[in-house]
Amino acid sequence: MTTPTLPGHPHIAYHEGELCVEGTPVHALAQQYGTPLFVYSQASMHDALAAYQRGFAGRKVQICYAMKANSSLALLQFFARQGCGFDIVSGGELDRVLAAGGDPGKVIFSGVGKTRVEMRQALRAGIRCFNVESEAELEVLNAVALAEDSRAPVSIRVNPNVDPKTHPYISTGLKGNKFGVAHERTVAVYRHAASLPGLRVVGIDCHIGSQITEATPYLDATDRLLDLVQAIEAEGIPIHHIDFGGGLGIDYNGDTPPAADALWHQLLAKLDARGFGQREFLIEPGRSLVGNAGLCVTEILYLKPGEEKNFCIVDAAMNDLPRPAMYQAFHAIVPLQPRSDCAATKYDIVGPVCESGDWLGRDRSLAVQQGDLLAVLSAGAYCMAMSSNYNTRGRAAEVLVDGTQAQLIRTRETAADTFRNERLLP
Ligand code: LLP
Repeated sequence: MTTPTLPGHPHIAYHEGELCVEGTPVHALAQQYGTPLFVYSQASMHDALAAYQRGFAGRKVQICYAMKANSSLALLQFFARQGCGFDIVSGGELDRVLAAGGDPGKVIFSGVGKTRVEMRQALRAGIRCFNVESEAELEVLNAVALAEDSRAPVSIRVNPNVDPKTHPYISTGLKGNKFGVAHERTVAVYRHAASLPGLRVVGIDCHIGSQITEATPYLDATDRLLDLVQAIEAEGIPIHHIDFGGGLGIDYNGDTPPAADALWHQLLAKLDARGFGQREFLIEPGRSLVGNAGLCVTEILYLKPGEEKNFCIVDAAMNDLPRPAMYQAFHAIVPLQPRSDCAATKYDIVGPVCESGDWLGRDRSLAVQQGDLLAVLSAGAYCMAMSSNYNTRGRAAEVLVDGTQAQLIRTRETAADTFRNERLLP
């Protein structure tokens, strides 16, 4: 019996009653490595990247994987080998890029709060560009670069004041957000940046938000960005690259974001029409490269029927999968081996953490028994990377699947690992 792939998950499907990632049954991985366990499909990451590459075929482009989505070293290694650069937001992320064999010359550094130490580290590593987010940051970067006898390559992150129509916590391009330089201030800030001896203006960038499922916000932001490029260049300051920020949203629950190649087709038509088609472009996709490549396997510890709610208590929790607790986010949850020997019941799927906010799914209809294994889908992005040790729970293990091969890429964290840096009183 072969059933179709799950929506949004071309390489995750049931074969003969077993959930498989590519050619590998997930149940066997859980038996070997325990749960909770993150499992990633390499083919999914490859296909997601290929859609961007197709969209930009024939153009000068650098895809910089926004590694905050999932910074596990083996995944970084995969993207580095595919020619990707990286969008980083901390010195720690730069250390990870270097540890994974990434090219610092393809790294761009975003974020509103870069420290002097991080700036110096990035300058010494020879990164491609600092995406500067405020006038105060420009001054500090200039001073750090001069002290290093260097010139920092900069792009100013513009806040285009465009509504991305996504969750407020992941909207970044509106006036009330902390990110970027206000649209109206941009030309003046570029004029100042160009006058500072420790800086070299190389580009412009914007990022309006994450989990965007419509093309219009991107098209509107692009128009505003191009108006600015014209105004800045009219001042005699050349803009070598245009960086469009993060990528598309993904299908969590019937969401229908445009395909990456289709969106870029539309954007490039606009860029061509306005005479910018031959610039170098940068993009910083995160979620769309890894989100639907990953799932998290968890075991049902207890079924707890109640008057108002039935609870399905599993061994994964908000420390492993923080998105439902933080954003009320929906992740599909499916059994690894669907049963026909018991009736479906409605459950809230919750973890062992001592918080009522520790839920992974609400009102889900499942035919399950204690000891069954479930997969939380769309868990490749912003799950492991946002995981914590709350309740002294070690972080989960991770496996990367390539066809019938499965590679353990992170061992399960032990309790001793979680308190290694702590010291007892004398
Ligand atoms: N570039 C910048 C400057 C960003 O801030 C982000 C995401 C990206 C690129 C990547 O965006 P993406 O392609 O993944 O949409 N934890 C939240 C998402 C936070 C996104 C933060 N910035 C979540 O789980 O939904």
